[in-house]
Amino acid sequence: MEKKVPLTIDGKNVEASAGQTVLECARDNGIFIPTLCHYDKTTNVGACRVCVVEVENARSLVASCCMPVSPGMVVRTDTEAVRNAQKMVIELLWSSGDHNCLTCEQNGQCELQNLIYWLKIEKPRFEIEAPGYAIENNNTMIQRDLNKCILCGRCVRACNEIQVNEVLDFSMRGSYAKVGPAFDADYINSSCVFCGECLQVCPTGAITFKQAKFAGRPWEMEKVRTTCTYCGVGCQMDVFVKDGQIVKVSGNRDYGKPNDGSLCVKGRFGMDFIQHPDRLKKPLIRRNKNEDLKEVSWKEAYAFISDKLSSIKKTSGADSIAGLSSARCTNEENYLFQKFMRAVIGTNNVDHCARL
Ligand code: FES
Repeated sequence: MEKKVPLTIDGKNVEASAGQTVLECARDNGIFIPTLCHYDKTTNVGACRVCVVEVENARSLVASCCMPVSPGMVVRTDTEAVRNAQKMVIELLWSSGDHNCLTCEQNGQCELQNLIYWLKIEKPRFEIEAPGYAIENNNTMIQRDLNKCILCGRCVRACNEIQVNEVLDFSMRGSYAKVGPAFDADYINSSCVFCGECLQVCPTGAITFKQAKFAGRPWEMEKVRTTCTYCGVGCQMDVFVKDGQIVKVSGNRDYGKPNDGSLCVKGRFGMDFIQHPDRLKKPLIRRNKNEDLKEVSWKEAYAFISDKLSSIKKTSGADSIAGLSSARCTNEENYLFQKFMRAVIGTNNVDHCARL
């Protein structure tokens, strides 16, 4: 049986699993501790110090995201010292960037904004000094505004630990520190593959979905969980819909497998085909080569396909027909397709676009 670690948090006797952090134990027991740099799926680095708590007999406040539980520990999460430290951190972050919420795409779901409100900070006691970086806007998918970056490093760890693309890291030092690809390159001129994991984990408006800019506020959109149609993996995604149009896509973190919240470039940024005016929604037939394609019903299209296949098989034999299936189908659909080719048409000439 698993050995439990008894401790006290805010006067409540709780039990943690060995190796858990104070933060994890608090969350398991419904006790809120604010965080910024912490991200469940990556290592804890203790960079932001927003999650500080008091631990009895400790010399100073400790970062709960990095502090392992120990038997008999007495933790306090809401003392004056804790709140003062959290306010100081948040005010420093606020004043060192250009957090203009009025037009920021993250307005309403920005974790920094939420903590400012939660800590009841009217305005920072320090002068706001944004670094004045140019906004990176030279690709079609991701906008980066490093003036809103709080250097939490979530994007760096997501890029390196989740996607293992190893594109992002910190460069420079002190107030000049920044995050980005090697040699301070823009995403488009780096080895970035535009998976968008950095965008998904960014707690502020530093990395945003370019196609979603000015397309809708978070509270105006309906979140719909669905399965990505690009391949047979079946990644779970949330599409954000406003007025019947998909505004942006995010990996679904709650459902778990198969993608555990991550997406590839196609799943995250390639969904505009759904509402594209050129999208084919009805079958088209060209009955002879001099004729234009004409829209027909599905019944008519299937009858046409069946007649053609039957007559080719009759005149030239089953092996004169080949079938190419799609990676966008499910395994079951691909199974049925090869069965159809072998059992109905009578040929082994069947392949799949994923092999090409
Ligand atoms: Fe613990 Fe940032 S969340 S130090």
